[in-house]
Amino acid sequence: MCGIVGYVGSQSALEVVMAGLKRLEYRGYDSAGVAVLADGGMAAAKRAGKLVNLEKELVDRPLPTGSTGIGHTRWATHGAPNDANAHPHLDNAGRVAVVHNGIIENFAMLRDELQERGHELSSETDTEVVAHLLAEAFSSCADLAEAMRLVCRRLEGAFTLVAVHADEPDVVVGARRNSPLVVGVGEGEAFLASDVAAFIAHTRSAVELGQDQVVELRRDGVTVTGFDGRPAEVRSYNVDWDAAAAEKGGYDYFMLKEIAEQPRAVADTLLGRIDANGSLTLDEVRISASELREMDKVVIVACGTAFHAGMIAKYAIEHWTRIPCEVELASEFRYRDPILDAQTLVIAISQSGETMDTLMALRHAREQGSNVLAICNTNGSTIPRESDAVLYTHAGPEVAVASTKAFLTQLVACYLVALYLGQVRGTKWGDEIRAVIRDLSQIGGAVERVLETMEPVRELARSLADKNTVLFLGRHVGYPVALEGALKLKELAYMHAEGFAAGELKHGPIALIDEDLPVVVVVPSPRGRSVLHDKIVSNIQEIRARGARTIVIAEEGDEAVVPYADHLVRIPVTPTLLQPLVATVPLQVFACELATARGNEVDQPRNLAKSVTVE
Ligand code: G6P
Repeated sequence: MCGIVGYVGSQSALEVVMAGLKRLEYRGYDSAGVAVLADGGMAAAKRAGKLVNLEKELVDRPLPTGSTGIGHTRWATHGAPNDANAHPHLDNAGRVAVVHNGIIENFAMLRDELQERGHELSSETDTEVVAHLLAEAFSSCADLAEAMRLVCRRLEGAFTLVAVHADEPDVVVGARRNSPLVVGVGEGEAFLASDVAAFIAHTRSAVELGQDQVVELRRDGVTVTGFDGRPAEVRSYNVDWDAAAAEKGGYDYFMLKEIAEQPRAVADTLLGRIDANGSLTLDEVRISASELREMDKVVIVACGTAFHAGMIAKYAIEHWTRIPCEVELASEFRYRDPILDAQTLVIAISQSGETMDTLMALRHAREQGSNVLAICNTNGSTIPRESDAVLYTHAGPEVAVASTKAFLTQLVACYLVALYLGQVRGTKWGDEIRAVIRDLSQIGGAVERVLETMEPVRELARSLADKNTVLFLGRHVGYPVALEGALKLKELAYMHAEGFAAGELKHGPIALIDEDLPVVVVVPSPRGRSVLHDKIVSNIQEIRARGARTIVIAEEGDEAVVPYADHLVRIPVTPTLLQPLVATVPLQVFACELATARGNEVDQPRNLAKSVTVE
């Protein structure tokens, strides 16, 4: 998830683009770059790190002034966040510049083709192939929009592309497939950006692009066509957000925006990981299949929300691979002298990639000779750099302190790792793996459906704003979901909240049950492990019998819970192991709304930090 800006008009393109990038920096900030068309040529600058590094570079080495330009602030997916991998990417002649958001799944094949034809590629990115392909296509059609359409028809994956060509100095071309891009139309000028925040200071008149469309921007207007060249209808709308709201996509808080982004984040994390035969290809996992076959134990280390993802991963890893799996809080791990050797696969899960406790745990594991696989959301951060292998989650930058979309994508990554282990060790058949992948690819839609039905949950949350305690119960994979629900409430609403394994209720926590105490119960599917379901229904009855208020999260069609639920939250039917991907979402919404009702600062809760770089 990167930030993209394009401009054509009569102002200084560099100034407009840099101001736009500033407003989009929340989308990614590991490198930035710009390209401007001036004096019949192309001038570009790019720098690793935050936008301020690029600003300094532009002071030291100013670019010529031009009125057509593009810019990019990067959140790396392919290749480390360094100068070479920063966007824009140019062709060998330096006539085309392109910026990109998303993942081009077939880039390796395209890169090989280009190299065979004599192109020299200088970065590790998937984006650079597009600059070269555009240059080739332009040399035959001399029309950048047509070149873009030709190239897009060859690309697989999800992408937004914006390009300029020195031979068409008054044109900016954009393309979109499953990745955001909006057009702004001003008086004698036009804008392209990942979101309206980038151009709201100049115009409130916007045009929405559909999927698989190419837009050509000129001073006097915009033309939209499909990838197939057919003219498309231009749908204009007026943006009534102010600049701050625009950055949050119109949401009051980043957290709400990030909750809403979950269907996309889940889908993005699956992108590029499944080959044409439906087998898993985890390119970034640089631990060989033979080494993975040798592993006799998996140990997961993580903190906070990532730890809960690890707890859920344990169920999948043990069930699908039959390898024993331990999950440990990273802060406890190295102090108990854990038993580790070269046959132990250690998985470190971290959104930021900078959490000191997790970093120390993985260093300890590597000192003991274990292989470490990082599951991380931040390309080029310390934890993946110090690990033997990495699987990136593609959630995009998470700004709100309380983790939401990163958690769901960590789960997806954990399921992928578990399936991959099953694949290389032969404990899962190809068709079984394909079936789970099919289920996973439908989860984005299921999360979307959950999000559409959240108003009663918000209403319930508001009605509980004056409570002191909320308890959460779950069984099996619902137990870590209960812990995550409680953690969200502590972090955001500053309420006493505890998560329990429902079976433990009778061993102590039942003493806490009081008249009108809200108790959230995550109910496993009645299909599959029906024993668990029946037991938790009994637990709900026990709580209800003691006067508590039951808030039941249960699958659609589960009628057995209806008589015992004071509030029933329905979630779509999913396979048992994947249920956390949908069951967690109402708990995120619940905590966020309760925090708002209590007047708390949702994105930056008191005493917390997004990335804890001390032990
Ligand atoms: C902090 C954050 C949590 C997060 C945890 C682990 O405590 O407030 O939201 O889950 O760190 O962070 P990581 O970046 O390693 O996933």
